[in-house]
Amino acid sequence: MSLSSSTVVLLCALFAIVASVHSQADPGNGDNSATCPTESQFFDQVIDHTQQSSSHTFKQQYRLNTTTFKEGGPILFYQSPETVNLSCADKTVLADWAQELGGMVVTLEHRYFGLSLPFGNESYTTENLQYFTLENVMADAVTFMDIVKKNVTGAEVSKVIVVGGSYGGLLSAVFRQNYPDTFFGAWSVAGPFRGFGDADEAGPEAFNWFNYAQNIYARRSLESFTRINVSFAQVYSWLDSGNGSSLQQSLSLCSPPSNSSTDRTTLISWLTSAYVKLAQLNHLPKAFYNVTGPTLDTVINDTLSADSPIAAMNETLCHAYGLLAPNGCLNYTVSSDSSLGVETIPFTWVNCKWYPQNFALGINTIFGQGLTPTPSNPSTVCAEMFNTTQVTGAEVHSKYKITQQDIADSTRIIFSEGEYDPTTSISMPQSWLGDVVGTDLQKSVVIMINGIGHGQDVEPTDLDSPSVVAVSASYPP
Ligand SMILES: *[C@@H]1O[C@H](CO)[C@@H](O)[C@H](O)[C@H]1NC(C)=O
Ligand SMILES: *[C@@H]1O[C@H](CO)[C@@H](O)[C@H](O)[C@H]1NC(C)=O
Ligand SMILES: *[C@@H]1O[C@H](CO)[C@@H](O)[C@H](O)[C@H]1NC(C)=O
Ligand SMILES: *[C@@H]1O[C@H](CO)[C@@H](O)[C@H](O)[C@H]1NC(C)=O
Ligand SMILES: *[C@@H]1O[C@H](CO)[C@@H](O)[C@H](O)[C@H]1NC(C)=O
Ligand SMILES: *[C@@H]1O[C@H](CO)[C@@H](O)[C@H](O)[C@H]1NC(C)=O
Ligand SMILES: *[C@@H]1O[C@H](CO)[C@@H](O)[C@H](O)[C@H]1NC(C)=O
Ligand SMILES: *[C@@H]1O[C@H](CO)[C@@H](O)[C@H](O)[C@H]1NC(C)=O
Ligand SMILES: *[C@@H]1O[C@H](CO)[C@@H](O)[C@H](O)[C@H]1NC(C)=O
Ligand SMILES: *[C@@H]1O[C@H](CO)[C@@H](O)[C@H](O)[C@H]1NC(C)=O
Ligand SMILES: *[C@@H]1O[C@H](CO)[C@@H](O)[C@H](O)[C@H]1NC(C)=O
Ligand SMILES: *[C@@H]1O[C@H](CO)[C@@H](O)[C@H](O)[C@H]1NC(C)=O
Repeated sequence: MSLSSSTVVLLCALFAIVASVHSQADPGNGDNSATCPTESQFFDQVIDHTQQSSSHTFKQQYRLNTTTFKEGGPILFYQSPETVNLSCADKTVLADWAQELGGMVVTLEHRYFGLSLPFGNESYTTENLQYFTLENVMADAVTFMDIVKKNVTGAEVSKVIVVGGSYGGLLSAVFRQNYPDTFFGAWSVAGPFRGFGDADEAGPEAFNWFNYAQNIYARRSLESFTRINVSFAQVYSWLDSGNGSSLQQSLSLCSPPSNSSTDRTTLISWLTSAYVKLAQLNHLPKAFYNVTGPTLDTVINDTLSADSPIAAMNETLCHAYGLLAPNGCLNYTVSSDSSLGVETIPFTWVNCKWYPQNFALGINTIFGQGLTPTPSNPSTVCAEMFNTTQVTGAEVHSKYKITQQDIADSTRIIFSEGEYDPTTSISMPQSWLGDVVGTDLQKSVVIMINGIGHGQDVEPTDLDSPSVVAVSASYPP
């Protein structure tokens, strides 16, 4: 892999946008708490599952908590996603279910992320990346389940429920579809399944994310939505007239943005990201600065009460990025991506190879009104960074058994989606599963949950409304 300077610029532009999507990369991260009650361990995992009896192995990280396990109880398996830290499933609703069902809670780190590096610090070379395939990721989980069943007394015939959120929500459904004998059921929390491929293939679905994001505000408070639009219009007007100093002063920025296309894109992505995150992570005020209640309503209330739309935007930015402002000023070139734990290099590989999500900020949104429309083609990054092409959405859907037909025929997958989460716009649509009213209890279902953010149903918080408590209580298989 080689990283030229032009690649870095491209990456920044891409990831400023992508960052807003994966702003909570792992709904099962235990609210970003550093400590997990269950210590992690390592076992020897095969590097290349296509080789029968391969002796080449690496240390893969996992957690296993059998405290509540009773003979034959379920294995509640949380697949850790694209993060630098292994998830802590003990802090998710799975722990409650394990208690109730006599189950165990198990987590496996995703290969090539965190400490599960097949070739240590040499893992991201072209030569070594060849083992970074979705086939191997699936086989890791299958192998691990076999080991758990063998090693834990009373687990030989236990049923495995695979759970994951966000990108992990895509994985959990894919695991169930491809290894139904291993994974008895799946819970796909806020998983993305649409808007894949290059601009031509993704088509209008590439715009779903930001269209949905602005609608969250419009539905919650039309007046606040209108004020946010006015603040973006002011930003574009200052950019157009080269008035960086007004931008800097009004928005507490460390430096004045120029009108170059890079600066425009970076600034707009960063501004948009603030609004997206504060809606999507409504239930996680601790992720923000000077917020105690639900974050979406905090933004809306501030927006309505501020002296002017631009003053309201300044408040919002301080909430969104204040934790990253040691000098008291906000640096619009710094996204909170890495602080939220996404590991960009391996995740870019994932984007190129089997998760080709395409996001485009439409010029018809309040956020993108002054942008030059540019087709979003993440494949450029794949070529520059890894000398590889990007997979198409059609290939992913058919190869991993998640076409509309596959999903219509699928059993025992719960797809859960939240009202304040733009991921809902690219998640599983009800239409793929057919009629809402059915009598077949084995058939997969989509569950829409009012008033929740990204993955809030897997990770209870103090801010859970009765609708969330009720739905979490209704899931256990
Ligand atoms: C295991 O799960 C139990 C029940 O959720 C929890 O109390 C405990 O802290 C977890 N970790 C360990 C090491 O027991
Ligand atoms: C990887 O780590 C080893 C041992 O710490 C070190 O000698 C080597 O230079 C590192 N390689 C790279 C590419 O960072
Ligand atoms: C499974 O049991 C074997 C033998 O006791 C042990 O060496 C190994 O570490 C265990 N593996 C896991 C993943 O717990
Ligand atoms: C947003 O503001 C722009 C510029 O003033 C205006 O043209 C557009 O109609 C507004 N959009 C909405 C949805 O209010
Ligand atoms: C700023 O950029 C916009 C869009 O590229 C352009 O329309 C405008 O003329 C530029 N303004 C200045 C002062 O360069
Ligand atoms: C920048 O904008 C401010 C506020 O709208 C205005 O007072 C000032 O004259 C503008 N400066 C330039 C150089 O356009
Ligand atoms: C921006 O908001 C912060 C935090 O509320 C405040 O301290 C600062 O005075 C505001 N700046 C402007 C120009 O309104
Ligand atoms: C903003 O952050 C970038 C990247 O970390 C850094 O290079 C730059 O110096 C910072 N700018 C200011 C004004 O602090
Ligand atoms: C925190 O927010 C409140 C309004 O919600 C505001 O009055 C106060 O100035 C803010 N404090 C800081 C340190 O930004
Ligand atoms: C927003 O304002 C409404 C109406 O004043 C109030 O009921 C609500 O508690 C406020 N929410 C937050 C998070 O500040
Ligand atoms: C990852 O874990 C380390 C050590 O436990 C912690 O300091 C850090 O904040 C964690 N990062 C995230 C993004 O949770
Ligand atoms: C890129 O890959 C192609 C084959 O896919 C190969 O022919 C070419 O040499 C590679 N380029 C570099 C710079 O590695």
